[in-house]
Amino acid sequence: MRDSTTVSMGRPPVSGVTQTRVLAPDMQEVLSVHHWNERLFSFRITRPKSLRFRSGEFLMIGLPDENGKPIMRAYSIASPNWADHLEFYSIKVPGGPLTSRLQHIEPGDGVIIRPKPVGSLVLDALLPGKRLFLFATGTGVAPFASLVQDPETYEAFDQIILTHTTRTASALDYSQRLMEQIAADPDLQEFANGKLLYYPTSTREMTANFGRITARIASGQLFADLAIAPLEAATDRVMICGSIGLNRDLKSALTTRGFEEGSNNEPRTFVLEKAFVG
Ligand SMILES: Cc1cc2nc3c(=O)[nH]c(=O)nc-3n(C[C@H](O)[C@H](O)[C@H](O)COP(=O)(O)OP(=O)(O)OC[C@H]3O[C@@H](n4cnc5c(N)ncnc54)[C@H](O)[C@@H]3O)c2cc1C
Ligand SMILES: NC(=O)c1ccc[n+]([C@@H]2O[C@H](COP(=O)([O-])OP(=O)(O)OC[C@H]3O[C@@H](n4cnc5c(N)ncnc54)[C@H](OP(=O)(O)O)[C@@H]3O)[C@@H](O)[C@H]2O)c1
Repeated sequence: MRDSTTVSMGRPPVSGVTQTRVLAPDMQEVLSVHHWNERLFSFRITRPKSLRFRSGEFLMIGLPDENGKPIMRAYSIASPNWADHLEFYSIKVPGGPLTSRLQHIEPGDGVIIRPKPVGSLVLDALLPGKRLFLFATGTGVAPFASLVQDPETYEAFDQIILTHTTRTASALDYSQRLMEQIAADPDLQEFANGKLLYYPTSTREMTANFGRITARIASGQLFADLAIAPLEAATDRVMICGSIGLNRDLKSALTTRGFEEGSNNEPRTFVLEKAFVG
């Protein structure tokens, strides 16, 4: 495990002279990298001064291949829109064109970014409501990491319920650390205190809450464990970010309860986005 937290502005000194690395104009500089386990890492890069985004949106980031051609992939911004850096939470796909390279970035390196944020996991795509449920699996928690650090989310809803489901116990570390960071941040606590509920579950290694979130919604266990009322389309709003299967199954569970899918143009009671393709 590696945790690089210092900012390096360039390559090691040569003959006592510090050389500053010059990044290409479409690149931002890596500030820090944290490896959570052998399959997951997160990293921070500088934020282009002109970049504006809504918490929950994604953009394209990448690295050049061996011929200098950019390999670009969609990535949710995990940091809130008020932060002066951008954070991303990433899978390491064995042999994956981008992530087999991206997992080796270090402070001072450059990452290509196309500063055109888009996406449907935004407050604007939901009608006003009382509770906001955020259902994530795997790296699908990234857009919700942004939303739960955004005061606007707490201004819009009385209660925010973040669920995160992963195969293994260690894959929950990112969201667990996020909750600790929010609890330790006095500015965010002004908004989040008493309003944010967190419900981690795992499916292939035993943790306190074992099982798929879909099963825990169907059985009512989720609501019993948190001592909250079941899902209700009249008052609740939902965002979903996971695999195609998770998104399909949750969408079906919601539509049978009277929820309707929304978009930026037509806000409704739930929205979803793929955490990855395939
Ligand atoms: C809207 C959107 C937002 C995304 N946001 C993120 C993000 O915040 N963090 C992130 O790590 N990825 C995210 N992805 C996936 C990302 O775009 C890439 O697929 C991923 O970085 C792997 O790139 P690759 O070139 O190494 O492999 P690819 O060729 O892109 O993927 C190879 C295979 O790996 C699996 N895979 C890819 N990404 C994931 C993943 N995140 N979790 C589990 N399995 C995966 C799939 O089976 C895929 O077919 C997002 C995708 C979309 C469509
Ligand atoms: N995570 C790992 O340790 C690991 C290791 C090697 C390879 N991979 C590969 O990486 C890819 C993605 O793995 P991932 O673990 O990041 O994502 P994933 O397969 O989408 O699983 C993430 C979580 O979502 C749950 N889930 C999946 N489909 C669901 C559905 N329809 N309804 C409710 N819950 C659902 C999974 O439960 P279930 O466990 O019940 O499916 C798991 O807890 C896969 O192709 C996998 O083969 C993953």
